[in-house]
Amino acid sequence: MVGIGPRRRPSRKGSMADVPKDLLQQIKELEDLFTVDTVKLKQIVDHFVKELEKGLSVEGGNIPMNVTWVMGFPTGHEQGTFLALDMGGTNLRVCEIVLTEEKGEFDITQSKYRMPEELKTGTSEELWEYLADCLQQFIEYHHDGEKLHTLPLGFTFSYPATQHYIDHGILQRWTKGFDIDGVEGKDVVPLFEEVLKKRGLPIKVAALINDTTGTLIASSYTDPEMKIGCIFGTGVNAAYMENVGSVPKIAHMNLPPDMPVAINCEYGAFDNEHVVLPRTQYDIIIDRDSPRPGQQAFEKMTAGLYLGEIFRLVLIDLIDNKPGLIFENQDTSKLRKPYSLDASFLAAIEEDPFENLQETEELFERELGIKATKGELELCRRLAELIGTRAARLSACGVAAICKKKNIESCHVGADGSVFTKYPHFKARGAQALREILDWKPDEKDKVIITAAEDGSGVGAALIAALTLDRVKAGNLAGIRDAGDMKTLL
Ligand code: BGC
Repeated sequence: MVGIGPRRRPSRKGSMADVPKDLLQQIKELEDLFTVDTVKLKQIVDHFVKELEKGLSVEGGNIPMNVTWVMGFPTGHEQGTFLALDMGGTNLRVCEIVLTEEKGEFDITQSKYRMPEELKTGTSEELWEYLADCLQQFIEYHHDGEKLHTLPLGFTFSYPATQHYIDHGILQRWTKGFDIDGVEGKDVVPLFEEVLKKRGLPIKVAALINDTTGTLIASSYTDPEMKIGCIFGTGVNAAYMENVGSVPKIAHMNLPPDMPVAINCEYGAFDNEHVVLPRTQYDIIIDRDSPRPGQQAFEKMTAGLYLGEIFRLVLIDLIDNKPGLIFENQDTSKLRKPYSLDASFLAAIEEDPFENLQETEELFERELGIKATKGELELCRRLAELIGTRAARLSACGVAAICKKKNIESCHVGADGSVFTKYPHFKARGAQALREILDWKPDEKDKVIITAAEDGSGVGAALIAALTLDRVKAGNLAGIRDAGDMKTLL
């Protein structure tokens, strides 16, 4: 697409000059609604730290703080051939990873499959059969005619799961719009392994992994300063390494207090009680109309799945409740479809390089059949910025809370997910918020740095499977259920 308008200037103040007064007033109201200032950020972080602690305690709290039974970082000397299956929200990926003899080296072969939309609300059987189909296709394609030994699988299942063992996980609840009956409250590993067995596939689940834990382990493999693994994508979450002695809820296991264990925070559930997050009427509607009302309060304000919907709900509210303010006499039927806009729509608006917002104008016409005026485009542009900025600033609160809880002054944070990798300015806005929350001096460099992670659900999953097998070999069996079966993989 070739634009004809002049390139945008760094400051856009001037471009508001010809925006009608009522729209300017509306923009101001939206700014007041969506801006999260430093004081509020700090309040959120203080509450967040307490909730992280609570999640580790015997009583528990909103944030699950799931024990993953990943007991330490890789050394770089892990070896072997592993399968990894990543059940993401949008795609499904199967990888074969060979951790080679050379320290920290690996080879990877992978195939991607689309996760059919209807599967997300289908039946439990359909889900497992589909995952097995993809694994089977992968094996048939890459190992046609070979006689295979059973391969250990790292299964990245990125939903909150209670793990009494690393090769076990009871789904606490679906997130990210999934709503498949008959899985919540069940251990997903035997459900899946049964289907693999029925098909005679030579695969054994060695570890059930969260994407954040995989990200933490894969990133720390190449960067020893890495202390936190984060996902800012369709959903949001983080994992970090804790000492067993700081996890009262597993005190009964009498493990050495200084033993490391990775915690999958599941902090998308932060503030489900709604005491501190600055929720707007739009956030309330998102929650009310979601498959799991009352769950994932933090996620619903920050994750990619919801950003476009927040934007859409604001526009619909203005159309319906402020007659004549925007899109008068336009057909808004396309805009009325829930979840018709995703985060990439907002990203495209924020990326429009033209002073006259020509690309945004074309986007509205092409995607929604709406011909927007200059003032309306300016309002949409500002609204996208506000929603994207709020998400980035709130996202920084989770990272800051883990740092405060662990007394980490400086570290690297490995991050992945579509919002982190694709949403414009997300990184810079998050970094600015961290600066405000953690009170760095103006001349001080960033001390907690959020950087692009290594492939958590591929290499990370393989490494975790390898670490598990190494523990079986060494007889360090804390949090391993099927150690007997796993011995056959050695
Ligand atoms: C899930 C987490 C996951 C995160 C990012 C959340 O909805 O509950 O398990 O880590 O999304 O994918």
